[in-house]
Amino acid sequence: MAELNNNHKVIPVILSNLSANDRQRLMAAINNTWQSHWGWLRYPCPKDFEHEMSEKKHHWLIVKNHDGAFIGGAFCVTHDPMYPDKVYFGTLWTSPHANKAGLGSRLIAYIEEQAKKLGKNGVHIVVNPKLKPLISFYERRGYVLMEKSRQFPGFMRMEKTWDSPEEGHLHRPDKKAISSDQLIVS
Ligand SMILES: CC(C)(COP(=O)(O)OP(=O)(O)OC[C@H]1O[C@@H](n2cnc3c(N)ncnc32)[C@H](O)[C@@H]1OP(=O)(O)O)[C@@H](O)C(=O)NCCC(=O)NCCS
Repeated sequence: MAELNNNHKVIPVILSNLSANDRQRLMAAINNTWQSHWGWLRYPCPKDFEHEMSEKKHHWLIVKNHDGAFIGGAFCVTHDPMYPDKVYFGTLWTSPHANKAGLGSRLIAYIEEQAKKLGKNGVHIVVNPKLKPLISFYERRGYVLMEKSRQFPGFMRMEKTWDSPEEGHLHRPDKKAISSDQLIVS
């Protein structure tokens, strides 16, 4: 398992087993992050959050700190017939208290490493083209702005690719990489 840092633990988790209170806290933490960065809520309606959480193809990474607070995460999609050779990730976030401490970069590196283990040749995301600082943030990490998203009108696709998955991964993909929701305790 790839390391986020030397001290963290990655535990497979079943999201439907999260208590209602935990789900509420997680949604509030994500909404608070969007509010403080962009001035709007990621999930204005709790139903949107529940829908994304229950979407079977989404594998959530949820980072908790030692106090039990939710401080970051993302979800990944490993099988998309339109982009079979890529892993998609969305709703990457780190709490304003943890921002700029490197957690966002570590989550991205973790997802890329898991994508290589799955034998993929890259990762991709969609971004709102108005959020220039976010686009620069991804460009500094090797992501390239591509075409308009067909799935999310008004959004642009960005991708990062590598020449070929590491030898071994190509022939023996580790199907378990990002195959479940994961709780990351830091
Ligand atoms: C995008 C996001 C996940 C990054 O997470 P993070 O934990 O802050 O990421 P990192 O700590 O790895 O990197 C932070 C960046 O801010 C920069 N930074 C550090 N101090 C800074 C400061 N005082 N002011 C502005 N930028 C600063 C860092 O240099 C780094 O950029 P660089 O390494 O490319 O130069 C986080 O900002 C976030 O949750 N944003 C809101 C939600 C969102 O838009 N998500 C993206 C969905 S596609």
